[in-house]
Amino acid sequence: MTRTEVLPASPEAIERAAALIRNGDLVAFPTETVYGLGADALNARAVRRIFEAKGRPGDNPLIVHVSGLGQAQRLIRGALPEQAFRLAEMFWPGPLTMVFEKSALVPGAVSAGLNTVGVRMPAHPAARALIERSGAPIAAPSANLSGAPSPTSAAHVLHDLDGRVPLILDGGDCAVGLESTVLDVTRTPPVVLRPGGVTPEMIARAVGEVALDPHVMAPLADGDVPASPGMKHRHYAPEAELIVVTGGGRCVVSTILELSDAAAAQGRRAAILAREAHLSLYGDRTVVSLGADEGQAARALFAALRALDAEGMDLILAEGYGADGLGLALMNRLARAAAFHLIDTGED
Ligand code: TXA
Ligand code: MG
Repeated sequence: MTRTEVLPASPEAIERAAALIRNGDLVAFPTETVYGLGADALNARAVRRIFEAKGRPGDNPLIVHVSGLGQAQRLIRGALPEQAFRLAEMFWPGPLTMVFEKSALVPGAVSAGLNTVGVRMPAHPAARALIERSGAPIAAPSANLSGAPSPTSAAHVLHDLDGRVPLILDGGDCAVGLESTVLDVTRTPPVVLRPGGVTPEMIARAVGEVALDPHVMAPLADGDVPASPGMKHRHYAPEAELIVVTGGGRCVVSTILELSDAAAAQGRRAAILAREAHLSLYGDRTVVSLGADEGQAARALFAALRALDAEGMDLILAEGYGADGLGLALMNRLARAAAFHLIDTGED
C-alpha cells in the first residue's frame, strides 16, 4: 500500500512528479479532457504498473502523451502522414489522439501487442510541464479504476486510486470533461474510433473527409473484431442501472416521468439527468442538471454519474443528445454507460 499525496500542480509539485516518472513510478495528473495515470512510456516496467494500479485488461493499449511534434515523430514508424500533420497543426495541443503505426521505441506493454500507437499532445499546462520536466513521453490512460467513469477532478482520482499511486497533481476540474477523440490516421479517410472534443465536423473541415467506426454508436456483436480494444471492455459504467431516452423534447420528458414514477412505485430510487431548461418539468423528483448546452453537459456528466452512485441510486434516467458535434461524444459515453439501453421516443 502506497501513501497517496495530493498536491496543487505548482512548479515544485510538477518537479517532484517528474522525478517520480523518471524513477519508473506513477503520477496522476490533470489534462484538459480527464485526469491521466502516467508513467514513462519508454519504460516497460513502469507501464505495467499502470495496468496493475487500474486493474486494466492487458490487451487495452495506452495513449502516449507528448509535448512536441519531434517527440511524437520518434514514436511513429516512417514520416508523419500528410493528413496527420494537418490535424496536428490544427488541433494539437488539444483533445485529439491519433493512432499511427508505431516505431520500435514503443514497448509492447504500451501498445498491448498491436503494431500501432495512439499519440496525443495535451493542452493542459500542468500536463505539458510534466512531460517536459520528465524528459520522456508519458503513457497515460484515464486515472480511474478500470470500468468506472473517468475522473474529472483530483477528488475522483483519489476516490479510485488512494493507496495505488504516490502522487496526484491537482489542477482543478477538467475543461472538456470527456476523453479525447481517438482517430485512426493509418487509414484514408481517417476513422473516428472514439468521439471527443475534436468533433468529426472539425476533422472533416481540416482534411476533407472522415469516417466513423460503426461501433461508436452500436455494441459489438459476437465475433466482431473491434478497431479499438477499448470498445469491447465495460466502460464508464455507474453502479446504478442507466437508461438513455432520446427523441423530441416533450416525448423524452414524458417517457422519463413514466419510467421514474414506475420505478418509485416499486420502491426503487431513481434519479434523472436533464438539461437545465427541463429541470422544472420533473417536479420534486431527484434531478441533476447537466447544464444548458453540450459543452456544459460534457464537463458535468462523469461527476454526475459518480455523485449518483455515491448516493446509492438504483436507476438513472438520462435525457439523450443529438448525434452531431459534441453530442456524438456525449451519446457515445451515455450509450456505453447504459450498456446500450436506449429508448427512442420518436419526434414530438
Ligand atoms: O483524453 C484522453 O484520451 C485521456 C487522457 C488521460 O489523455 N486518456 C484516456 O485513455 O482516455 P484511456 O486509456 O482511458 O482510453 C484510451 C482509448 C482506449 O479505448 C483504447 O482502446 C484506445 O484509446 N486506444 C489506445 N491506443 C490505441 C491503438 N493503438 N489503436 C486503437 N485504439 C487505441
Ligand atoms: Mg479510460
